[in-house]
Amino acid sequence: MTKAQLWIAAFVGLFIILFLLQKVTSESIASSTPPLVEELGCISCHGQGLNGGGGAPSLVGLSSVYKKEQIMQYIKNPESSPRFAEFKTKYPNPMRPFKELDDEKLGILADYILSLK
Ligand code: HEC
Repeated sequence: MTKAQLWIAAFVGLFIILFLLQKVTSESIASSTPPLVEELGCISCHGQGLNGGGGAPSLVGLSSVYKKEQIMQYIKNPESSPRFAEFKTKYPNPMRPFKELDDEKLGILADYILSLK
């Protein structure tokens, strides 16, 4: 191989490596649904992607309504929200308070909900 051929081979190799790296990282960064959302049954009421099911409102676009702490508070104790009273008339089965969740889990859920645009 000549020097020029070696350079070309090195560049092609580098491109392939960068391409693969980009694929791997973009897949892991894409906001996927945290397992908690499925495990705790949020999906069973709020629907796939939490965009509204039969018995619960859509949680898409809540970033214009709540701050992160307020969502955490809501999940822990829905009755604390002024929106709860109005919802109660529309949805006969209210959401239960998820009192058992620690701040770490509440934070994961809140971050996910805030990412739904
Ligand atoms: C039994 C069905 C049910 C389950 C399970 C459920 N929700 Fe709800 N959720 C509701 C209903 C109904 C409302 C509206 C009023 C209320 O709180 O009952 C609501 C309201 C909310 C709101 C406030 C929406 C707003 O616009 O103010 C948030 C946030 C929320 N749910 C998050 C969650 C999360 C996160 C989970 C999983 C940990 C979850 N919910 C599980 C039924 C449910």
